[in-house]
Amino acid sequence: MSHIIAPSILAADFGNLQSEVEMVNESQAQWFHIDIMDGVFVPNISFGFPVLKQIQKHATKPLDVHLMIVNPDQFIQKFADHGTEILTVHIEACDHLHRTVQVIHAAGMKAGVALNPHTNINLLEDIIQDIDLVCLMSVNPGFGGQKFIENTYNKVKRLKKLIIDKNSKALIEIDGGVNAETAPKLLEAGADVLVAGSYVFKSENPKSTVEGLVSL
Ligand code: DX5
Ligand code: ZN
Repeated sequence: MSHIIAPSILAADFGNLQSEVEMVNESQAQWFHIDIMDGVFVPNISFGFPVLKQIQKHATKPLDVHLMIVNPDQFIQKFADHGTEILTVHIEACDHLHRTVQVIHAAGMKAGVALNPHTNINLLEDIIQDIDLVCLMSVNPGFGGQKFIENTYNKVKRLKKLIIDKNSKALIEIDGGVNAETAPKLLEAGADVLVAGSYVFKSENPKSTVEGLVSL
């Protein structure tokens, strides 16, 4: 399988949301990455359902929703109703992760689990066979445009081994600081999905920036 590029809407111009979504539609990107922050799990607030509804209305590609919120369980059905294809929760925010994953699947979505930079991938040992995606945070969640944490390469390699050993189908997604320098090394280490926010949306020609990442 070739890799997937998921532009992160967090870095888009929200005053021109429709045209930003259309840019992604027309680009070679395969997914939309959508960051939901509650100001509790992370020290920032992004946007909620009214904005997601507008994204859903215009997007023609799968919505990959990354929840940086406490108690995600209460909103699972609502994200399904808003067209979410992959719903990712943070391992640090879930006391009953196995149940949360079951509920996400029962709502008809794929289930992802995100790990903060300090969280050991070994914690996934007993859930890796049940999930569709692991999102490794390569920055501390909460903000776009931060510096990539170098230890991520090593984490990707260890996670890849765990996935193979456990015969899991989970994709490895990397979120934070993806650019022309980090992307090739991440793919080499075993990443399947690259999220890119500022690198795409703040570039002069976002569509060709996406093309550059897709063709790596
Ligand atoms: C950070 C978000 C990321 C963010 C990435 O908490 O989860 O998805 O948008 O932004 P860049 O690519 O600018 O690091
Ligand atoms: Zn994200």
